[in-house]
Amino acid sequence: MSGPNKDYDPVEVTPLKADEVERMRDEALAAVSGASDLEALKRVRLEHAGDRSPLALANREIGALPPQARKEAGQRVGQARGVIGQAIAERQAALEVEHEERMLAEETVDVSLPTTRRRRGSRHPLTLQSELIADLFVAMGYEIAEGPVVEAEWLNFDALNLGPDHPARTMQDTFWTEPADHHVVLRTQTSPVQARAMLTRNPPIYVVCPGRVFRTDEYDATHSPMFHQVEGLVVDEGITMAHLKGTLDHFASQLFGDGIDTRFRPSYFPFTEPSAEVDVRCFVCRGSGAGEGGDSCRTCRGEGWIEWGGCGVVNPRVLVSCGVDPDVYSGFAFGMGIDRSFMFRHNLEDLRPLFEGDVRFAAAFGSEI
Ligand code: DAH
Repeated sequence: MSGPNKDYDPVEVTPLKADEVERMRDEALAAVSGASDLEALKRVRLEHAGDRSPLALANREIGALPPQARKEAGQRVGQARGVIGQAIAERQAALEVEHEERMLAEETVDVSLPTTRRRRGSRHPLTLQSELIADLFVAMGYEIAEGPVVEAEWLNFDALNLGPDHPARTMQDTFWTEPADHHVVLRTQTSPVQARAMLTRNPPIYVVCPGRVFRTDEYDATHSPMFHQVEGLVVDEGITMAHLKGTLDHFASQLFGDGIDTRFRPSYFPFTEPSAEVDVRCFVCRGSGAGEGGDSCRTCRGEGWIEWGGCGVVNPRVLVSCGVDPDVYSGFAFGMGIDRSFMFRHNLEDLRPLFEGDVRFAAAFGSEI
């Protein structure tokens, strides 16, 4: 039986010689500091600190040494491996920091650079508002009626009981097309669509017509030669002012919020009798007229109510002009400014941005498609 080889000379086990361990250690340290990125360091770790690294293999030889030599050899190899492990950890930390900094620098996005991406278009806020109004009337069973913006004088005025002497027929308010004897105007109101609706349909008639209208107004913060109205007309048996009031209250609450109703003030329109101006309850102060901190409400200027449009019971003369028997049918009609409604809904002081086509204005009202 052979016992441990007492004569075994560790100096003869080459991988465990001090010089050799030192050489392996230095080679490993050189490789560690030469690793230029995390990938390279991974390879170095495998090669110089892995299970098959020269020092790991040398470590295995220790068992073959005589007991008195093992301790020293073990320390030598252990120390060398410790130093290498430490160097790898340090290099790893340094490379990670470097990597992160490089990524931050490389991936910086200059948000101020011009883009080649096309901006999405925006639908015009007035288009959206018109559609909203149309939708809420369609939900009540109304039809959307349309008429031309270049309209016959007769439909814009005469059929609506606006006699030739009515002030609205003077050259001041109306854009006339040439030649004048053709009696064609740019419609000054959406009301001619009432006449068209009655001339082309048999009662019962329930129509709304949002559309553009034209007047020779100066262009300023509250006037424009082109603006938008929505017209409503109902012709049926037994229609009264009460139906009109209920309809407009519903319209107001749908457009401005729950609990927002309307009030009527006596007025005159040639095409309705009786006629009323409609005010809508201020949806900010809800009719109190009070603003913040003792001031009056800014939206309605302390009135509690905002002027919204005109309305009334359709004048029997209009029914007759449009071929409807006033002994059988009655009706109501109303007309509101869409731009005005939009302005006070959004607290706009100036209506001009509505007509100037800046897409940023349209986008600001959340109208991206
Ligand atoms: N057409 C009127 C205007 O432009 C508004 C109007 C008032 C329309 C009363 C109506 C109505 O249908 O009944 O001032």
